Amino acid sequence: MPITREEEEALNDHFLINSYVEGFATSQADTILFDQFRSTPNQDLHNLHRWYKHIDSFGSDRSKFPGPKRNSLILSVNKIKVTVMMNNKIEKDGPKQVEQQQLEQQLTEDIVDPWNVQASSNKGIDYDKLIDRFGSSRIDDALLERFEKLTGQNPHHFLRRGIFFSHRDMHRILNLVEAGKKFFLYTGRGPSSDSMHVGHLIPFIMTKWLQDVFDVPLIIQMTDDEKYLWKDLKLEHCNNLAYENAKDIIAVGFDMSKTFIFSDVDFIGGEFYKNVLKVQKHVTFNQVKGIFGFDESSNIGKIMFPAIQAVPSFSSSFPFIFGGKKDIPCLIPCAIDQDPYFRMTRDVAPRLGFQKPALIHSTFFPALQGASSKMSASDENSSIFLTDTANQIKKKVNKYAFSGGKDTVEEHREKGGDCEVDVSFMYLRFFMEDDGRLEEIRQQYSSGQMLTGELKAELIQVLVIIIGICIFKVNPYTVFTCQH
Ligand code: TRP
Repeated sequence: MPITREEEEALNDHFLINSYVEGFATSQADTILFDQFRSTPNQDLHNLHRWYKHIDSFGSDRSKFPGPKRNSLILSVNKIKVTVMMNNKIEKDGPKQVEQQQLEQQLTEDIVDPWNVQASSNKGIDYDKLIDRFGSSRIDDALLERFEKLTGQNPHHFLRRGIFFSHRDMHRILNLVEAGKKFFLYTGRGPSSDSMHVGHLIPFIMTKWLQDVFDVPLIIQMTDDEKYLWKDLKLEHCNNLAYENAKDIIAVGFDMSKTFIFSDVDFIGGEFYKNVLKVQKHVTFNQVKGIFGFDESSNIGKIMFPAIQAVPSFSSSFPFIFGGKKDIPCLIPCAIDQDPYFRMTRDVAPRLGFQKPALIHSTFFPALQGASSKMSASDENSSIFLTDTANQIKKKVNKYAFSGGKDTVEEHREKGGDCEVDVSFMYLRFFMEDDGRLEEIRQQYSSGQMLTGELKAELIQVLVIIIGICIFKVNPYTVFTCQH
């Protein structure tokens, strides 16, 4: 029997965290499974697709994979049993046909990794499915209640509104807080554009709130090395961008007496580098291939980079902050696309005698043009930049923010606007702190009482204030000095 779609999905989940059928090395189990496929698996199952392409690249060497030759294989993933038998072997399609099939394939599952975010439907990413696929946990009411109890404060609106929606091990962190113990925060940014846009601020705004309510140290990593390795940019330029972006980040208002922000290029060495080496020694090429999709033509800098993003999670990387302590737990606020780095980190940590970092994950910030279109720092009309003037903000919102309003005033008054797809409303969910006012707007807009122009005017006001706060808070003289 050929492999069913359900089985393919189960296999896709398997390859999310495993490089190969039997874990982290090739074996005859890969060969037999490979032989079951009539053609390259659909690209929307990108973990399975990646595994297939990788196994395919071995050519006839597949028969030399270690392990006894097998006639059958049974694999259990997510309660689904995938059974394959040797005599199911099916002739493969010629390469042309395969290519054609791929072209015709529609994405049926969202793609989310550090380099690609692509929704399969125009409703945007399905975050519930992502939690299932990634195996993280939902930020639910019980967790919010614990936040409230422990901080004595209403949880930040990013938490209340599901903008941060998923976590790993957050209860462990709250248990520590309950016991009067400390943890530290770690987040970062890959500096690839001169100016940051409002979406880039989301993890930093969350982090600032966490630093305020828990009064804990914060590490901010600027991955100028990462951007150099991935983008067609000069090294000097990436390094300069790290310092430029750091000003915008500092402007979010962290407690700078408890915050260390650094450029990888300028800082890495000493204990930090020792930890990088330890991670490097304990993670194989096969593992990162499986997690990140690297292949033989990836430059070798990329292949080792995940070790660099991993080690700020370990307190011993910063002896001048943590006095050489190895066991201070770490909490990482980040957008969910960064999760693969930290799945790897959590996997390797216990083998090095370190604690696994905890995480809270945010949804993505939509482009002005709508939740399913891609926001890019190189398209200046796809978002609001921190350098935009009040006039530019007004023009951009009025001209580009995708509207859920109706075509004519009459129709709008009668049928009302659709807040689910209206980008101005989505942005207000991110940036309007006042729950009461937000709810009022939602009701008035969806009943047709409020027009699109009025909704946009509300947003413009909120954005001008946010950006104003950011610009004026920057004191160029407090921009970090790189301690070493
Ligand atoms: N890779 C991230 C980016 O491209 C930057 C980053 C480094 C990061 N360390 C992090 C993001 C920790 C979140 C948390 O933007």
